[in-house]
Amino acid sequence: MAFTVALNFEDGVSRFIQCNANEKVLDAAYRQKINLPMDCSDGVCGTCKCHCEQGEYNLGDEYLEEALSPQEVQRRLVLTCQMVPESDCVIDVPMASTLCKTGCQEFSASVVAAIPLSDSAIEFNLQLEGSDGIAFLPGQYINVEVPGTDASRAYSFSSLPGKQAVSFLLRNVPGGLMSSYLTGQAQPGDKVRLRGPQGSFYLRTVSRPILFLAGGTGLAPFLSMLEQLAQNGSSQPVHLVYGVTHDHDLVKLEQLDQYCQRLPNFSYLTCVASEDSQSPHKGYVTQHLDAGRLNEGDLDVYLCGPPAMVEAVLNDFERRAFTPASFHYEKFAASQTA
Ligand code: FES
Repeated sequence: MAFTVALNFEDGVSRFIQCNANEKVLDAAYRQKINLPMDCSDGVCGTCKCHCEQGEYNLGDEYLEEALSPQEVQRRLVLTCQMVPESDCVIDVPMASTLCKTGCQEFSASVVAAIPLSDSAIEFNLQLEGSDGIAFLPGQYINVEVPGTDASRAYSFSSLPGKQAVSFLLRNVPGGLMSSYLTGQAQPGDKVRLRGPQGSFYLRTVSRPILFLAGGTGLAPFLSMLEQLAQNGSSQPVHLVYGVTHDHDLVKLEQLDQYCQRLPNFSYLTCVASEDSQSPHKGYVTQHLDAGRLNEGDLDVYLCGPPAMVEAVLNDFERRAFTPASFHYEKFAASQTA
């Protein structure tokens, strides 16, 4: 049985390879034209040492302790010249992709629609051309070229990996390059190029309750994660706190309601910062994190939003002396470029 292995390089680039039954990761990568760091290829030198972030694997039994110590084994370090995956895996490679003779993949797509969901949010739908879909980890982003320009913008996928149909949830920035294109010029069939995927913000293996904190269109990666959870099922509680500035900034509530049906352990709360909001939950995300939700730190926290919101949450956690079992966050800025 073949497994998919995500290789996350130090420069943020992700590449996905297929590992055949009993095939070592180093060999599989080489077969797919990615030269992972190596020297002896015999489990002796330790040059190929990487960290396996998630997945099951066989370490092999022909390596020396000098190359991989028992303490390193405990920390899920692996020798890719010996490691054989026993499930899909995610491996952090401590080297830039370019040094491994690889880099971002390129994809071509056509515009399907640019749908204004509110004054502040646009859904951007694309159809990939001539490919099997883009492999990525739910939560990751890709660089999207603004048609007719050389500029790119980085957007988190709001859709699932491996599909021909690709979606993003974008902040409508008045005068912004991509926003201007989407609101003024975009036509179905326009050609768009994409490069990626990238990023270390992605859904890890679920082994404890999850808290998602989204600010504005920082909701996008959580839509991808929730779709994945809804398809795979989760026995752990998943709670989303979704904060925006104005009432009319709230989008995708119907989709979130559907996840409540499809994912029995899922719940969400929306909050609105504006003074004149009609929302029952006014204020910032940090004002709606009660102690029960924080589960005494035994939970995984994922946070995505504009820099001010991310900083506010980091400060709030510090003030509460709250340290979750794992914490992953991503800031996005309006002019984020490739
Ligand atoms: Fe030397 Fe793997 S390349 S231990």
